[in-house]
Amino acid sequence: AAGGVVVPGLASKLDYGAVRKAVEEVLESNPDYDDGSYGPVLVRLAWHAAGTYDKATGTGGSNGATMRFAPESDHGANAGLAVARALLEPIKKKYPGISYADLWTLAGCVAIESMGGPSIPWSPGREDKPDGSYCPPDGRLPDASLGAAHIRDVFGRMGFDDREMVALSGAHTLGRCHADRSGFLGPWTNAPTTFSNLYFKELTENKWRKKRWSGPVQYEDKSGQLMMLPTDMALVWDRKFKPYVDEYAKDEDKFFNDFAAAFGKLMALGVPGQSP
Ligand code: HEM
Repeated sequence: AAGGVVVPGLASKLDYGAVRKAVEEVLESNPDYDDGSYGPVLVRLAWHAAGTYDKATGTGGSNGATMRFAPESDHGANAGLAVARALLEPIKKKYPGISYADLWTLAGCVAIESMGGPSIPWSPGREDKPDGSYCPPDGRLPDASLGAAHIRDVFGRMGFDDREMVALSGAHTLGRCHADRSGFLGPWTNAPTTFSNLYFKELTENKWRKKRWSGPVQYEDKSGQLMMLPTDMALVWDRKFKPYVDEYAKDEDKFFNDFAAAFGKLMALGVPGQSP
């Protein structure tokens, strides 16, 4: 729904097309930021807002935009995301009728689309919670130093299957790790502001070895420029994940289709009327 969508029940008749345009306008507003785009960090904000969902209790998820508040804003996994939240603040001021929760998730989808990715199914309807008492507990987002069992624990808790877990991981074709945020360092690909299946090509076609440094265990290619996290390597080391990695490395259309469906599902988790 790219055009102006009129949502009954909202105070203002919101023009989501205008909000999308406003997001597109800030993406490359600062050439000095990282690789010249805020797109990757906006995708990460949308994902971390949503990825706290627990299917069993219906808690967490993007509905509520609870990352505005401590303790969630201070959870280690969310280090650096204040940049993304602050970037969207002027858009929230200009279009006060959109909830933060809708704005953050929409911005993630717009970022993916603007960087050349598939169009992501997204609908409004999230409401902001009033304070930090609604924050999910720490520890619901994945720990990059762990392996396949942990990936299945975390994404299984949200309701994803193996194929969806691998598809979602393809977002690491975007952006980079920052030593001052996560402790890890470097980009996964040479084109970190273009959405593509390059991450899967790098995983399968490049050679990866442990990086020798004083930081956390991560992997590097021969050039020393590209990196993989232990959880990224787990996708090629796990017998059941690997076939999907191979499939997506060979078939970008298939990756785009599966990613769009899985990311749309992620954005809808726990949203009234949009998820179980
Ligand atoms: C960045 C971990 C899954 C999107 C990162 C970083 C870590 C990480 C450590 C670096 C943060 C920094 O230093 O700035 C993980 C782990 C995952 C996972 C352990 C699952 C096992 C996902 C998923 C998505 C995603 C499912 C989206 C669908 C991103 C993006 C960045 C990023 C776009 C780059 C952010 C930037 O450039 O600022 N991730 N991630 N990740 N992640 Fe993930």
